Formats: sequence, structure tokens, C-alpha cells
Amino acid sequence: MHILAIDQGTSGTKAIVTGADGAVLAIAEEPLRPAYRPGGAVEQDPVALLDSVLTAGRRAVAEAGVPVAAVALANQGETVLAWDRATGAPLTPAIVWQDRRAESVCAARAGSAGRVAALTGLVLDPYFSAPKMRWIRERLTTAGVVTTTDTWLVHRLCGAFVTDASTASRSLLLDLDEGRWHDELLDLFGLGGEALPDVVASDAVVGTTTAFGGDVPVTGLIVDQQAALLAEACLAPGTAKCTYGTGAFLLAQLGGAAARSRSGLSTSIAWRLRDRVDHCVDGQVYTAASAVRWLTDLGLVTGADELDTVAAAGSDGVLCVPALAGLAAPWWDAGATASFSGMTLSTGRGHLVRAVLEGVAAQVAALAALVGDDLGTPLTTLRVDGGLTRSRVLMQAQADLAQLPVEVYPSPHATPLGAAACAALALDPALGPADVTGGWRPAATYEPRWSPERAAEHLGRWHAAAGATLSRAAT
Ligand code: G3P
Repeated sequence: MHILAIDQGTSGTKAIVTGADGAVLAIAEEPLRPAYRPGGAVEQDPVALLDSVLTAGRRAVAEAGVPVAAVALANQGETVLAWDRATGAPLTPAIVWQDRRAESVCAARAGSAGRVAALTGLVLDPYFSAPKMRWIRERLTTAGVVTTTDTWLVHRLCGAFVTDASTASRSLLLDLDEGRWHDELLDLFGLGGEALPDVVASDAVVGTTTAFGGDVPVTGLIVDQQAALLAEACLAPGTAKCTYGTGAFLLAQLGGAAARSRSGLSTSIAWRLRDRVDHCVDGQVYTAASAVRWLTDLGLVTGADELDTVAAAGSDGVLCVPALAGLAAPWWDAGATASFSGMTLSTGRGHLVRAVLEGVAAQVAALAALVGDDLGTPLTTLRVDGGLTRSRVLMQAQADLAQLPVEVYPSPHATPLGAAACAALALDPALGPADVTGGWRPAATYEPRWSPERAAEHLGRWHAAAGATLSRAAT
């Protein structure tokens, strides 16, 4: 049973073909670069997204040299666009989850934040889909349908008009307990008259596509972060992973109960599989690889591969808050800006690079502590995946600051493997989630080397620096 699993991410699209035992037979990647503009605009060309899905998918299938039994798709979660349902043509750019321009939409509804959180488990923030959907309606077009990118891509592949429960739960439009679109929320965002996709399970077969040869079922639809949570076998409540991609996203499994966060985090659907809904609590660092790309654009490193050779042994007191696209949980301040502090005439680029890596790690450590507060018990380990796990400096800083063992997932393909796992469940009724995700051992484990006191002292200074980056409205 071979599965083509496609991870349509912010910085690129990766397609893999998996074999019977989950082995990866072929990999194809198509890089993408969002347009970052002043004013918090982050956009992608939808046609480039679709082309990257088709090109990467076809290359992977050709390289594998086998027919595939299913096509699975992981998506960015909260990236939206308007498109024509009759022709499938995009009507707007894709407004990326990092885009901050819908802050005004949220500000105008600030009085409803409590009600929104109670219904959806989410925070009223432009990161999530609905504010950007409203912003498209106010600023770009009233034509067509406005959906997340998964709905559009799947429509282009097989004609279905669907989104999966995990993606729907990132919208601010879904009643988290009922798993249905909620009229009050639709009205709040002025989206009451919109055609909305059917909400389906991640192991639902939603149609067939001939885009990759043959007539292949489309199934295994899921948010990229949730897919990685599944791949890393975070099936028991309290297990957690952090993916270091464009951003860094820490998710912890909650099980069947959609417990609302008491710590300023968000709760959403991890997946609906086998008619069972699992939930997760998550915290976000909006810029991880994005911050490294920014360092690269500034000429401080030539790329992520150079991070560990350039980073100094210590930051010499320099602190970085990598809020280059605002701050998410628990600050939720779209207007926050990044900072370096503690610099002197002796500060060199190695200290700055080290400070950026420690800044990402400090933010993840802060989130890990909040997840522990929500769970009522501290995390005992942090599973990790994503391109930046290749940085030993970052991973050691993560273990030191979070005071947790950090276990590196052995494959660089956690997200597509999670989507493939959903598709495998669709294809074989005899399998359960544990059958399609178990049995992995960490490629590396980083144990904390700092004392708890040293970590607490560093995090205290970092939190003060984060507070200083907040916009006036949030202080
Ligand atoms: O919430 C956005 C996130 O899921 C995007 O993931 O892999 O593009 O950083 P990535």
C-alpha cells in the first residue's frame, strides 16, 4: 500500500511516497517564498501553491516508480484565499497565517473575545482564519468563496468542497464541542452568508484525483502541526511535540476532552479519526526558520546549515525576542516587534546568532511551562521535529531552557508521515492510530545541562525583554 503524502507548508511543499511499513520511498520538494511586506502583509501566490503540490507530487510518484493507493494532504492551517467555485480560479492572493493585517478585524470585536474563546477554544487573533477571511471580504473581494487553502487545493484535485475537522477548528468559526460551524461566530465575523465547506474526518475519502496518475482516492486531510503530533505518536494525554518549521509550534495531546486553556494557549481538534475526536493545546512561535531566513537575508549566516558554526559559545548577555511577526500565546500581541538587547561594542555576529536561537528556545520553553500548567502536571519530555532540529545549538538550548529531555524525531518528514498515517487508516479498516505511528526511537536526545536556577534566571530576563517588545495597546 503506497501513499503519496503532500505537506503544503509556508516555505515549501514536500511530497513523499510511503511504503507498506511507513518507509519513505521517494521525496520531492518545491521551495516557496512568501512575500513579506511592510504593514505585516504576508502573501503567497495560490497558483504557485497548486503548482508546487502538483510538481512535487508528480516527481515523488515518478521517483518511487509505483502506483499510489491514496493522496494525503497536510495544510498550513490558517492560510486563506477567495476563489471561484465554478472555475476553481483564485480571486485573491493566499493571505498567510503570519499576516497581521486583520488585527483591525479583531480589535473591532474585542468585546466578544471571551465568548469566542468559550465557543472555539481559540483566542481572537489575526493568526486564525476568520479574521483574515473577513479582511478579504472588506478589502479585496466579495466574490467567490473564501476558505482555507486545503479546501481550494482539494477542490482543484478532486472537485470536493471540504475541510477536515482539525483545519476547521483553527478558524474561529467552529463550535469546538459540537464540531460544527456556529452561526453566532459566522455572524460575528460577517460571514453568515458564505458557502462553507463540509467538515470531514481526517480519514474520510473525499473524492478521487487523476493528478498523479491513475484515479486515486484523496484522503488524509489534516493541519500540518497536528499531522506531526500524530506522526510522533503523541496519542496519550500529556505527550507533546514541537515542530521547528517556518514558525515553531508546540502541541500537547489532550485526549477526548476539549479542555479550554487557562494559560492563554489555544485548544483545537488534533484530528477526527475512526469517529473519535482528539484535542490538543498549542502554543506558537511565529518566527523560527523565518527568523533564520531573516538572519540570512541580513548576511549574518549563509543559511540554516551555518547556524552552529557561526553561533558563539554563549550570547555574552545578548537577548533576542524573535517577534518578527508579532507575539502569539500567551501575549497575543500582533503589534509586538522583535528586539535584541544587552549589546555592547564587543557583541559580534556569533552572539547575535546565538541570541536568536536562544530566543526561539526561550519562547518554546515559556510555552512548555504553560502547557504543563494547563495539563496540571509538567511535561516530562519534548519530542521535536522540523528542519531546525539539525541545529545542535538550538536543541541543546531547548533542553537547557525548558529543563526537559528533547527527543529528536528520526525522520525529517514528520508532517507528511502524519498525513500518510491518516490515509493508511482510511485504506485499512483493521488499523488504529497506534498501528500507523508507533515504534520510533529518537535519533538523538538532548538532556538539560544548565541548572534549574540558571534556566530560571535566563528565562526571567527573557520574559522581561519580551514584555518590552509589546505594543502600547497590549501593555
Ligand atoms: O499555523 C501555521 C503552521 O501550521 C505552519 O506550519 O510548517 O509552514 O511552519 P509551517
